Parts: sequence; structure tokens; C-alpha cells
Amino acid sequence: MQHGERKTVVLTGASRGIGHATGKLFSEAGWRIISCARQAFDSGQCPWTSGADDHVQVDLSNHRMLPRAIVEIKERLSGEPLHALINNAGASPKAPNGTRLTSLTTSVETWMSVFHLNLVAPILLAQGLFRDLKAGSGSIVNVTSIAGSRVHPFAGSAYATSKAALACLTREMAHDYAPHSIRVNAIAPGEIKTDILSPDTEERLVPNIPLRRVGTPEEVAKVIFFLCSDAASYVTGTEVPINGGQHL
Ligand SMILES: NC(=O)c1ccc[n+]([C@@H]2O[C@H](COP(=O)([O-])OP(=O)(O)OC[C@H]3O[C@@H](n4cnc5c(N)ncnc54)[C@H](OP(=O)(O)O)[C@@H]3O)[C@@H](O)[C@H]2O)c1
Repeated sequence: MQHGERKTVVLTGASRGIGHATGKLFSEAGWRIISCARQAFDSGQCPWTSGADDHVQVDLSNHRMLPRAIVEIKERLSGEPLHALINNAGASPKAPNGTRLTSLTTSVETWMSVFHLNLVAPILLAQGLFRDLKAGSGSIVNVTSIAGSRVHPFAGSAYATSKAALACLTREMAHDYAPHSIRVNAIAPGEIKTDILSPDTEERLVPNIPLRRVGTPEEVAKVIFFLCSDAASYVTGTEVPINGGQHL
């Protein structure tokens, strides 16, 4: 299949966890994946065909690197429309002993890097790729968190507030981008089995999750895919919880 015939998604944080499962699902559905992460592309891990040629290596917590990354993404698009932008890359730093960083214990460096990665990068990517998304009547999905709406035993204050801001940004963007036929939604995962999860999660949190288990990255990927599909063509400005009922 030629590039012009298939849909294209820009996916941040595709190397592991939720992003990896999302790239796999979109690829199986015939989409071209343009991925962004700090590490180089690992063809053993990531099975999609566009692979290394469509991977942009960038530290999204450094906003000064964003203009270059956007140029690199546009070079790969070569004027073709963009159908989806998935702002998935995120980080949840902990104290050296693994405990949460509170509003009393978080350093200014951590506040800045977390906000740059979790909030500013999604804004700059969406702004920079606006024309490409408009050409493809695209869909933006921002990955927020259950920690954005309640104090979480493991997630820190910088992480939680950055995700709350990203949920608010989703509303603002949905309003601003709708006249250009670009939909903007968020998904808010609860406890999903990836590297980000604290080791105590199963023991401490699962007993209070109504479905009595953590979720899988594939279960999250399916909701992201729905939001980027024609099945969600009248859905914009919403935040979908994916948490086994943990918010109830
Ligand atoms: N798992 C959960 O339970 C859970 C719950 C709520 C929300 N979330 C959210 O879901 C998203 C994905 O999380 P995950 O659990 O799949 O995490 P993960 O397994 O730790 O994967 C994070 C991904 O983001 C990339 N990344 C991290 N820092 C980056 C940076 N500075 N610049 C560019 N890329 C960066 C990583 O690639 P490199 O290391 O190569 O850069 C990796 O591909 C995040 O936004 C997270 O906050 C997850």
C-alpha cells in the first residue's frame, strides 16, 4: 500500500506500554505510524513496517527540541494529510525510595520537566501539525490519567496537576479546533500494566477496583483507536475513563 492511500498517525511514546500497544493496533489496521520517543527505534520490539524511517528521536520534556521534531515529522509527511495525533508520552517521577513526590517535596526541575513533557509538548505538537491535521480532518487524543481528578497513592503532585491541566487543555482545544473539523478527546487510564505502574499496585489498589484487576495496554489502545475512527465522528471534547470502575 502507498503512503497516499493509507491513514497516518503521529504517536508519541510508541516504544513501550500503552503507546506500543496503540502502534501495533493502528499498524494492524493499515495505518502508517510516525513515532516519537527518546530512544532509537527498536525493530525487534516494534513490528510496524514504516519503522525506523518514520521514527523521530526527541526528548519531549525539552521544549526547545520541539520545533526541530515538528520539522522532522513534516518531512516524513511530505505534504500528505495527518489523520491522528496521539499525545501519549508521559512520565511520573518518584522519590529515590519509590514514594510519591508531594507538593511539599517536588523540586522546581521536576515541576518544569513534567509539565513540559505532559502538557507543553502536546500543545506544541498540535499547534505545529495543525495544517496537516486539518487537511486530514484529524483526531487528537491526549492521554491524561485518573490521577488528574483525585489524589493518587503513587502518582506525584506535578504529574497529577499536569494531567488535570491536559484534561482542561483537551476541552479548550476541542473548542478551538472543531471549526477546522479536527476532533480532540482525552482518555484517562487508571492502573494499566506498564513500566509506569508502582510494584505495590496489584496488592494495594486492585482490591478497590470494581473489576478487581489492572487493565492491559491493549484495552487502552482499543479506546484510542475508536476515538480516531469514523465510529467517533461526532465525539469531541470528552475524557474517557479506562479504569475498571476505579473512579466510582
Ligand atoms: N500505565 C498506567 O497505569 C497509566 C495510568 C494513567 C496514565 N498513564 C499515561 O499513559 C501514558 C503512557 O504511559 P505508559 O504506562 O505506557 O508509560 P511507559 O511504559 O513508561 O512508556 C512511556 C513512553 O513515553 C516515552 N517517553 C517518556 N519520556 C519521554 C520524553 N521525555 N520524551 C519522549 N518520549 C518519552 C517512552 O519512550 P522513551 O523512553 O524511549 O523516551 C515510552 O515510549 C503516559 O502519558 C502516562 O502518564 C498511564
